[in-house]
Amino acid sequence: MKSISKTFPGVRALSNVDFCVKPGEVHSVMGENGAGKSTLLKILTGVYSLETGKIVLDGKPFKPTSPVDAQAKGISAIHQEVSLLPYQSVAENIMIGRQPKNFFGAIRWGELNRLANIAMQRLGLNIDVTRSISDYPVAIRQMVSIARAVDMKCKILVMDEPTSSLDEGEVKELFAVVRNLRDEGVGIVFVTHFLDQVYQITDRITVLRNGELVGMFEAAQLPKLGLVGHMLGKNPDEVQALFVQKAESAHVEGSKPFVEARGLGRVGAVKPFDLEIRSGEVLGLAGLLGSGRTEAARLFFGADKPTSGTIAVDGKNLGRLSPKVAIDNGIGFSPEDRRTEGIIPDLSVRENICLAIHKKISPGGFISLKKQVEIAEKYVKALNISTPSIEQPVKNLSGGNQQKVILARWLASQPKLLILDEPTRGIDVGAKSEVETAMKDLSKDGMAILFISSELEEVVRSSHRVAVMKDRAKIAELSGDQIDEQVIMSVIAGGGQHAQTN
Ligand SMILES: Nc1ncnc2c1ncn2[C@@H]1O[C@H](COP(=O)(O)OP(=O)(O)OP(=O)(O)O)[C@@H](O)[C@H]1O
Ligand SMILES: [Mg+2]
Repeated sequence: MKSISKTFPGVRALSNVDFCVKPGEVHSVMGENGAGKSTLLKILTGVYSLETGKIVLDGKPFKPTSPVDAQAKGISAIHQEVSLLPYQSVAENIMIGRQPKNFFGAIRWGELNRLANIAMQRLGLNIDVTRSISDYPVAIRQMVSIARAVDMKCKILVMDEPTSSLDEGEVKELFAVVRNLRDEGVGIVFVTHFLDQVYQITDRITVLRNGELVGMFEAAQLPKLGLVGHMLGKNPDEVQALFVQKAESAHVEGSKPFVEARGLGRVGAVKPFDLEIRSGEVLGLAGLLGSGRTEAARLFFGADKPTSGTIAVDGKNLGRLSPKVAIDNGIGFSPEDRRTEGIIPDLSVRENICLAIHKKISPGGFISLKKQVEIAEKYVKALNISTPSIEQPVKNLSGGNQQKVILARWLASQPKLLILDEPTRGIDVGAKSEVETAMKDLSKDGMAILFISSELEEVVRSSHRVAVMKDRAKIAELSGDQIDEQVIMSVIAGGGQHAQTN
């Protein structure tokens, strides 16, 4: 790709960017949220038309007219926003556009299911492919879109944040498949915000910043700090300074809990557990994917109905909890799946941020435009949300910036307990440290925070106390010096001297 530029109204997403991928290499494209990574790859895969510059594929000029066209010419893609058909089976999703048919043009279901099974097994997954995709959690859906992309014969495989919902084991399976494809001569383009993953699999790295090319590097010759420095436009010392803080122990011990769960549980989702969260503390929920962290968090917000136990806020039993009751009692919830539960695509950045405030701060449900602008601008600045204006529809923001908007909404609503489920997924390193700072400031001001993250480093850095989940049960509570990656790992692995049974 040579001299690629792309302009959206008010935004220059790419200016004169060069990029190339060779057969048999894994090439990562790195950059902050809004740097232009997805835009570049959407031009390569025919989602956006090529307006300036040129693309050469296998020595021949290449100008895809649509994703289908690009696919026919050997470019297969997994986009950042998973696009699956929610009411169709896993098998149908994998085989979209490639269904085996019989002589009369009817779909051969047995064969379709058989092929889909093979594709999933290649990723190490044994699931019922005849069930609807909507029966499965986000991680499985992500694996399905990966299975679909890698199953197609291609010369180039583009993967835009394919691993954001996957656990370590699933990432391993994926990388094994990627290495095979690479050895078969496929050129692989990879985008992620997990730096460790970049170094596990990448041969070369192209860095973008503000729509411009910073440079292309051999991964082996670019240390992590140097990479982050290029992404943020900072020198390595400044980068290091971003991540040294650790949560000071909160002066909350002994104070009464804000929320108290007793024997709270839901059959099939989480076994009954006790948990207290005090005002002014960040309680980290650690555990592997599928350990029940999200399920536990959802019970605190009434998003799912518990089948046992009680929740009390400020010592008062809440009875039947629903999201409305939760919000009325000062509980806010930023969910992990922003596409289905968070963002309202057609509303502006300002409206999306102010959405949860309305009812609370203003009894009549009205909040002046001036106030809204003030709040939206404050958070756009605090979280460094990249947008030409606060009136931009949220759907036009990059994936990571949409994530920041959701977070801003809940920060702005100033709940007494804020539940953050994977708030840093898909956001860049700079913003991760901004989120950590925001959590720290808010807890200092007395907010209770329930923090879920798959990145243990983050949990350890930000939490005053940590509850560990495994196999859908709370197995331990850690505080003080026990808040340590090694300790948490050994508790999860079953070392469990801290384990308590509920
Ligand atoms: N459809 C669109 N309309 C208007 N602006 C857009 C559109 N798509 C992207 N942009 C803007 O172009 C810029 C680059 O966005 P892009 O999605 O390529 O970023 P990215 O590097 O993929 O970021 P992320 O890491 O958050 O996914 C951003 O400023 C974004 O707001
Ligand atoms: Mg993107």
